[in-house]
Amino acid sequence: MSQPADHFKKLVAHCKEYGFIYQSSEIYDGLSAVYDYGPYGSELKNNIKEYWWKAMVQMHDNIVGIDAAIFMHPKTWKASGHVDAFNDPLVDNKDSKKRYRADQLIEGAVEKLQEKADKEVEKAKKRFGDSFDEKLYRETNPRVVGYLQKATDANNRMNAALTAGDMEALKNLIEELEIACPESGSRNWTDVRMFNLMFNTQLGNIAGEEGKLYLRPETAQGIFVNFLNVRNTTRQKLPFGIAQIGKAFRNEIVARQFIFRMREFEQMEMQFFIRPGTQQEWYEYWKSMRLKWHLALGTPAEKLRFHDHENLAHYADAAVDIQFEFPFGFRELEGIHSRTDFDLGAHQELSGKKLQYFDPETNENYVPYVIETSIGCDRMFLALMGHALTEEVVGDDEGNTRDVLKLHPALAPVKFAVLPLKRNEDALVNKARAIFDTLKLSFPGQYDDTGSIGKLYRRQDAIGTPYCITVDFETLDDDTVTIRERDSMAQERVPVAKLEEIIGKRVDMKQLFV
Ligand code: GAP
Repeated sequence: MSQPADHFKKLVAHCKEYGFIYQSSEIYDGLSAVYDYGPYGSELKNNIKEYWWKAMVQMHDNIVGIDAAIFMHPKTWKASGHVDAFNDPLVDNKDSKKRYRADQLIEGAVEKLQEKADKEVEKAKKRFGDSFDEKLYRETNPRVVGYLQKATDANNRMNAALTAGDMEALKNLIEELEIACPESGSRNWTDVRMFNLMFNTQLGNIAGEEGKLYLRPETAQGIFVNFLNVRNTTRQKLPFGIAQIGKAFRNEIVARQFIFRMREFEQMEMQFFIRPGTQQEWYEYWKSMRLKWHLALGTPAEKLRFHDHENLAHYADAAVDIQFEFPFGFRELEGIHSRTDFDLGAHQELSGKKLQYFDPETNENYVPYVIETSIGCDRMFLALMGHALTEEVVGDDEGNTRDVLKLHPALAPVKFAVLPLKRNEDALVNKARAIFDTLKLSFPGQYDDTGSIGKLYRRQDAIGTPYCITVDFETLDDDTVTIRERDSMAQERVPVAKLEEIIGKRVDMKQLFV
């Protein structure tokens, strides 16, 4: 189902209003592209991480987890190529003084050309009706062919320029495509120049280049430098993986779109070490495993798609994104990269330590190849929240709507809420408290008697609580309660003794793995 145009704005407001995400240091007017997770946000984020960790580490006896430090020896980033090649091309508009990523401006122009072609096709479809042959039209209509050809040419030239590090070619392309600043409408651009995305700081009191430390821009390198430690201490045989969840930092040139692109964010990464020559097979395996992970949450298949990289990162021989249809279009959610022996090979060379594996089957020593899966926890959060937040009409009255967060119950921050029908009746309150105190031993929940039942339901819907339990006078007589399911709003009378089983069935993460 497509979402209304203002959905993204509404999502951002909802995240703040209900304690999911706040702007960092808001009392000082905030820090650009840095965010804090509130009470429900931190619970949801923890659940996402737990789901990933269970899927990657617990469900695979040949994958182990680590938690490496954010600070690493600076040589790490020289070997990994980040000091020399972790750059984005930036360009400033001289009139608006706004800064942009040159490649993103060009990609935007390419998308516009493609949209123009699509519009022509739509118009023709209406004109010709049933007899319309879309494929033939796309291949032969001069206007459509022209737009698509121009888009393909621009894309190819951009990729070639990025690969060659040719900033002048990028600037020429911006001019030829007549790209205007979205802010000022002006085409008065500076030259394009490269900008390194790593943040740096100083180690202790060592000044200058010698004491220069970087905040890691990816968690992967903490895994590579520990390859030998983990191999020697766990006796894992190839193929095996090392997983890690942790913070990463990038001085993004353009950090817009809420938590989609942040300067401090969290990654969930896994490096899978394999025998050279088997990378194609494992690449396909991890593509399918990771897609399954997303689909198990109930995300509709049409909201996810694979997108092969045309412009490969400096370490990869193949790379694909799992893209998700965010409110602003299909964008990268996760990357799966065939990293060859680039990282281990480079660390071996610079450190002088042998980072090899003796393969008892082939009697050979070699530097393993690597397939990486890498997903941003915050981006996953945005994808889930964006898809889950639904405004719907309740009953037949168009004016009666509710905002409901249809998160998978296994990920919902709060699993149940106990609501006494009246707050001033001691017997009801005591009973409701007793039910809450028992259930909280098993699930995160809430006790709430601060409003009418209708209002309390709406509040729980807005934070995605799968079950509301109402305690009324009948409960005092027969020990039954009304349990209301979030999505269907169906209400059922059930014995108190059954609550744990009913809730447990819906919120257990196990169901995501069967
Ligand atoms: N180790 C490989 C690597 O870091 P990447 O494609 O640069 O690859 C992996 O990043 C994932 O990290 C992305 O798919 C995205 O989900 C997340 N990510 C990257 N930069 C981000 C940023 N600035 N803000 C939020 N998430 C980001």
